[in-house]
Amino acid sequence: MDAAEMKKIVAEKAVDTFVKDGMNVGLGTGSTAYFAIKRIGELVAQGYDLTCVATSVQSEGLARECGVKVVDLDEVDKLDITIDGADEVDPDMQLVKGLGGALLREKIVAAASVREVIIVDESKLVEKLGTKAPLPVEVLPFGHEHTRYALQRQGCTPELRMRDGKPFVTDGGNYIYDCRFPEGIANPFFLESRIDVIPGVVENGLFLNTAFDVLVSRTDGTVYRMSGQDI
Ligand code: A5P
Repeated sequence: MDAAEMKKIVAEKAVDTFVKDGMNVGLGTGSTAYFAIKRIGELVAQGYDLTCVATSVQSEGLARECGVKVVDLDEVDKLDITIDGADEVDPDMQLVKGLGGALLREKIVAAASVREVIIVDESKLVEKLGTKAPLPVEVLPFGHEHTRYALQRQGCTPELRMRDGKPFVTDGGNYIYDCRFPEGIANPFFLESRIDVIPGVVENGLFLNTAFDVLVSRTDGTVYRMSGQDI
């Protein structure tokens, strides 16, 4: 099974398992969440009444193309469920997210969700966060070089994310530094507390104690829940 098929199978399994008629649903961002949004569109076409909130302009556009009703987060009290991807997942279901550039909205939407369900293929599993993916940190453009030095003092090499020769700009109008830790992230909770107090940092890509469950697809096409519950 190729990578796209593994993303599709886990995304569809998550939607079919967790999304019920009448729910408020958070829509993730990325190439795995893409398949979840398509599946949600199919449920809407079958008659499901779903109210959705998107974590990016890109996901909002896709959802609308699929006939899905998308509202602002502040139009709902809470979300029953959000289905989103991740860049790394450790054995305790702690996450790194944000390679798709949507980490700020993703974290706000996750906080408003009763259940945050993460969908990945097994290539995203790591023993230690920061060993495969860099940690994305969203920063204000103002004084961002100073913010970079402060990030560097946390033991990483921050690289300004670029697109078409210019700094990549998030949906929130900010920049992203992708921070590489040579030995991985030893203590994600401590690191998060250090990063969050740096002036100029808007949000970091550590999603700690956020996942209600993680669904993982294997190359043979099977899917399992990291919580150990049956699918
Ligand atoms: C978006 O900002 C990210 O947090 C994505 O959820 C993450 O990058 C996973 O994307 P893929 O499913 O494309 O790997």
